[in-house]
Formats: sequence, C-alpha cells, structure tokens
Amino acid sequence: MTKKILLLPGDGIGVEIMAEARKVLELMNEKHSLDLELDEALVGGSAIDSAGKALPDITLEKCHAANAILLGAVGGPKWDNLPPADRPEKGGLLKIRKEMGLFGNLRPALLYKQLADASSLKPELVADLDILIVRELTGGIYFGEPRGIRVLENGERQGYNTYVYAESEIRRIGKVAFEMAQRRDKRLCSVDKANVLEATMLWREVMEGLAKDYPDVELSHMYVDNAAMQLIRAPKQFDVMVTGNMFGDILSDAAAMLTGSIGMLPSASMNEKGQGMYEPCHGSAPDIAGQGIANPLATILSVAMMMRYTLNMPEPALLIEEAVSTVLDQGLRTGDIYSEGCTKVSTSEMGAAVVAALSL
Ligand code: IPM
Ligand code: MG
Repeated sequence: MTKKILLLPGDGIGVEIMAEARKVLELMNEKHSLDLELDEALVGGSAIDSAGKALPDITLEKCHAANAILLGAVGGPKWDNLPPADRPEKGGLLKIRKEMGLFGNLRPALLYKQLADASSLKPELVADLDILIVRELTGGIYFGEPRGIRVLENGERQGYNTYVYAESEIRRIGKVAFEMAQRRDKRLCSVDKANVLEATMLWREVMEGLAKDYPDVELSHMYVDNAAMQLIRAPKQFDVMVTGNMFGDILSDAAAMLTGSIGMLPSASMNEKGQGMYEPCHGSAPDIAGQGIANPLATILSVAMMMRYTLNMPEPALLIEEAVSTVLDQGLRTGDIYSEGCTKVSTSEMGAAVVAALSL
C-alpha cells in the first residue's frame, strides 16, 4: 500500500539538509520499490512569508493525511519579534506536535566510533555510548495553562507558566519508555524534580506504578540537576531515560554533544494513531544557513528512523545507517564533526556520498 511522506523543509539550514534527505528517500524508494509518495509543504518562517502564518491550513491537512512527516527545522532572527504564538517555533512546530498529538519523542544519542574524537568528553567515557532519551512532547510547562505575561498591582510585569501533567499523560509516555527499555538493555531512568515540584512527585509515583507491569525492566529515578551532571560525568551509566517536555529538551541537547555534534542526531515523535514526525534534533542554525556547510546526517538518519518506526521497514533503515557509517569510514566530515586528517565536505557532498554508498 502506498505510504504518504510529507516533507517540511522549513527555514534556515532546514532547506539545505532536506534537499539531501530527499535524495536518499528518492533513491531508496526507487531501488527498493518502497511505494512511497512524497509531497512537500511550507512551515515556519517561510510559511509566514508566503502564506501569512507559520502553519498554513493546507500544511496541517497534509500532515493529518500523511503516514509520516520529515521536518527540517524552523525559525530565524527575521521572525523573532513576532508575538510568541505566531512565531515559527510555537505557531509552526509546537502546533504540529500538539494538533497531531505527537506525545512520544525518541531522541537517541549514539556515538559513531569514527567520531570519538569529536566528542567533548574523553574517548573512553563515550566509547560505544548508546542512550535513548524518551521525552514527553505535548504536555508539561510547554503547553500548561494559565500562561502569559501579566501586569501586577504595583505596575510591574510578571511572566508565568504552568507545569502540569495528568496521570494519563505520564502513563502514556511511561509505557513508551518501558517498552523501549525492554527492546534494549532493560534499564530505565526516570528524570524528575520530585524534591521540589508536585507535578513531578506525581510523575515519579506513576512511573513506580507502571514498573509493576514491566518486571524485566530495572527502573531508577534521578533528579534533573543530578541527571545533567551524570550525563557529562559518566554517560554510559544510562540506557533509556524518560522525562517531561522541558527537562527532555535540555537533557537531549546535552546528550547530543557527547556524540560529537548535534548535527548527527535524529529524532522521532509519535502519536497514538501510529503516525510519526521525524526531524533532526538541531535547529535552523541561521548563522550558517545558506553556506552549504550544515551536516545533513541527522536528517538522513531521521529518514532511517522513519522507516523503522512508522513504515515498518527495518531493512532499508539499516542500509541507511550503514551508509552513514561508510561515509564516516571514508573520512568525510562536515565542519561540525571535522577533525584533523579527515576530508571536509559540504552539505551536498555529504548527501551525495551517502547516496553513492547506498547505490553500491
Ligand atoms: C527541540 C527544539 C524545540 C523545543 C524548539 C525549537 C521549540 O528545541 O525540538 O528540542 O523546545 O522543543
Ligand atoms: Mg531543543
């Protein structure tokens, strides 16, 4: 049966990296008769410029109709002065996540052995690193109400947000995390701030309750400040980590750096209907946009995740991951993962090398 894939390049380097990921998708589609139908739509700042809002209705319709979405990145200084709700991040990306109910965010931090030198930690601390961060993506303080900036009686302005989690939301993401742990090393660390925040006291309680259904998984708990420290002290102690929206945002950036570059990390966001949105963990990087130097591998690896998790095509997923490993073996590096003795390549040269490796 034909599967619909919607490409949303977005802004900044999103456009450049998507062009390379598209080549990989098209090649795999043809070579392995995957029966994928590719479509493209606008989101983010580019959608604001040409259609007046960050998530045009037509784009949202296409999202709902797609089996899987591949997103580049959104945002840039040009749109930073718009009201928060209209900006590419909130009006585009967060709106898709919310409208589609993409609550389950998987962010692997996997170190390719070829990149051990690019990590900010000593090679022995990160050798064979393989962590999976499971981040709740449609709740918590990102979406909690009430929120806003109000004027107090004394005339001073006050900003406020609300950290909320319902039991059902915690249970839903907890199940995803336990199931992922079952497929891996069977160790799950739940990250909270239960020494201060009531919402995360409930989080911890619900995780404890769930653990009874997964006796083969070893559940532990860690406060988020300690988790941040442990990630940069001894990251290999972790297998799967599960946490709320904001903590997951922060910890996944930290974990990314352990692997050499955030330019290497893909992610998946899933809903209860089996649809998924796949995107690199990095942003639109306006500072390097248009220069052809961005690393397209996170987006290409996101295509692999898409094949594995939404399309149920594990073999092509593996081929893409192996092709990425091959180009790294060849010594090809974009600037973000470059180290001495390697060959520095552009975005499109890296994409072409992956395509060449897949064509063999
Ligand atoms: C991410 C990003 C987004 C987030 C931004 C762009 C809104 O940092 O996907 O991690 O905070 O979720
Ligand atoms: Mg982030």
